[in-house]
Amino acid sequence: MRILVTGGCGFIGSGFVRLALARGAEVVNLDKLTYAGNPANVAEVADHPGYRFVRADIADAEAVREAIEGVDAVVNLAAESHVDRSIMDPAEFIRTDVVGTAVLLAAAREAGVRRFVQVSTDEVYGSIGEGAFRESDPVNPSSPYSASKAGGDLQVLAWHRTYGLDAVITRGSNTYGPRQYPEKLIPLFVTNALDGEPLPVYGDGLQVRDWLHVDDHCEGIWAVMERGRAGEVYNLGGGHEETNLSVTRRILELTGRDESLIRHVADRPGHDRRYALDTAKARGLGWAPRRGFGEGLAETVEWYRAHRDWWEPIKSGAYRAYYEAQYGGR
Ligand code: NAD
Ligand code: DAU
Repeated sequence: MRILVTGGCGFIGSGFVRLALARGAEVVNLDKLTYAGNPANVAEVADHPGYRFVRADIADAEAVREAIEGVDAVVNLAAESHVDRSIMDPAEFIRTDVVGTAVLLAAAREAGVRRFVQVSTDEVYGSIGEGAFRESDPVNPSSPYSASKAGGDLQVLAWHRTYGLDAVITRGSNTYGPRQYPEKLIPLFVTNALDGEPLPVYGDGLQVRDWLHVDDHCEGIWAVMERGRAGEVYNLGGGHEETNLSVTRRILELTGRDESLIRHVADRPGHDRRYALDTAKARGLGWAPRRGFGEGLAETVEWYRAHRDWWEPIKSGAYRAYYEAQYGGR
């Protein structure tokens, strides 16, 4: 089986590339290498005989048409993925997450690809006070990021209904683990704490996220790719809800720091209070998250402690300008 994985140099994409090669698939990794794309994330498979890298943009129809030739399945993980950046500048999110997805869909249809997997997010449902979102719930996104992802999902469903394209969608919850770009809560706070730098908690820090280990997320995408029903959406939630403040305190303990590093800063505009997913449908495919959050977070902190060579270069240069723009005035 040959799979076109897009965004395979990112956090979850690189995990999926490794998983697919380990399962015996051939992988074409198409990635634009934006600020978040890092060849080091796939360095260990770069010479694998079943692996090929193509540097290209998913919105570039010609490049996609070439890369998709002979491919059985497309797994679309390429995206602009950070909510705060989407609030600063939404344009690139619409271009990649909506237009790019549509370009991929058109190419998949033309090439007769047997299965299209859209990797989406729980954020498309918006915030929920009590209970958990099911796949039949409507989308109600809050940020330019989640609105763009919802736009991509709707294109996928339309391609299935209109053209009969065999397509499935996964909606994963907040994902953590090694190799996550240090702009997201956990890698930002872990690396800041290791350096003794402040941890900027938005608002009261009592927002709730449902944490899923990256390995469990990749297994879920694999299960849906293999066994999901065409035209269906599958929630992939970690089943571990926790407030941001509580996660922050765990990080402080694991890095040997105290609460004096916590800074409550201005809240994120349009901030979703709580995410929660009903995962019965994905569990019906035989998938379930396996990694406990306490153990997974401790291992993740140890990975960042041991891999300064991975994140220190990232946190210099253009990252400093982003950090100043994002947090300077808070
Ligand atoms: P990431 O930001 O770490 O990586 C994104 C990758 O996509 C990078 O390698 C980047 O270079 C590439 N890319 C961006 N724009 C591109 C374009 N136009 N053409 C080709 N490549 C492009 O993202 P991630 O956290 O690994 O997320 C992967 C997918 O999973 C995204 O679709 C995201 O919406 C979804 N998701 C993420 C999470 C999470 O918590 N991280 C949770 C649920 C769903
Ligand atoms: O739920 C899935 C989504 O999870 C994915 O679709 C997104 O790609 C991914 O970025 C993530 O979105 P969040 O906005 O939930 O993740 P983030 O790590 O940015 O923030 C997690 C929570 O922590 C959120 O409530 C905001 C808060 N936060 C975040 C940062 C970066 C802070 O309090 N301070 C911060 O500096």
